Amino acid sequence: MDVYEAVWSRRAVRGFTDRHVPREVLERVLSAAARSPSGSNLQPWHAYVLTGPPLAELKKRAGERLAMGDPWDEPEYEMYPPVLKSPYRERRSAFGEQRYGALGIARDDLEARQRAASANWDCFGAPAALFCYIDRDMCRPQWSDAGMYLQTVMLLLRAEGLHSCTQMAWAKYHRTVAEVLSPPDGLVLFCGMSIGFEDVTMDRTRTGRAPLDETVTFVDGL
Ligand SMILES: Cc1cc2nc3c(=O)[nH]c(=O)nc-3n(C[C@H](O)[C@H](O)[C@H](O)COP(=O)(O)O)c2cc1C
Repeated sequence: MDVYEAVWSRRAVRGFTDRHVPREVLERVLSAAARSPSGSNLQPWHAYVLTGPPLAELKKRAGERLAMGDPWDEPEYEMYPPVLKSPYRERRSAFGEQRYGALGIARDDLEARQRAASANWDCFGAPAALFCYIDRDMCRPQWSDAGMYLQTVMLLLRAEGLHSCTQMAWAKYHRTVAEVLSPPDGLVLFCGMSIGFEDVTMDRTRTGRAPLDETVTFVDGL
């Protein structure tokens, strides 16, 4: 698959079939993704890949917490600025309208939005998931390295006919994830990533993007 095609066809997919994702495919993807760049080649990510009974156990535990109305774990990092200024605020609200509008959920129906969001903790039905941890001591550039790693993983998954959805939502249940994975002390869960074959009967809306001149400035003297 051409790189452009991988980039264009990657979307946050939120509906997967239960078709098995072979271990050798995941190993191929993650071996190639290890080539991702990082400042001073620190490779500051650590990925856990869950399938089968351990993933089922994690989904079960998260689902139980959700059903009990258990509050989120104390955050280990700020997901967004407390006040989102323009143009980010408008982009976020456009995203919400698109995501929930496609599911027929009204803007002010918070309960329905929450119900739809709860599919996060079932990995949207995916049979495989990756959890990306970062050492607590790392600085902002290393978090960006982890982002590049995750994007490389997602593009390689496309080359294998697979789809994905990155999920910070899992950081809200980082203790439950840690109970199943037992990561060493000193790691912070950045996000999860659902991985699998797309359920094409589910919503397949593509998100938009800001026009190029909102996010790129060419300085060429012309
Ligand atoms: C770091 C990161 C965290 C995300 N967390 C979630 C999440 O918790 N749940 C979810 O449904 N989507 C999540 N997304 C997906 C974004 O909503 C999605 O990438 C964005 O709306 C753009 O849409 P697209 O990926 O389909 O192009 C996340 C994406 C990134 C990069």
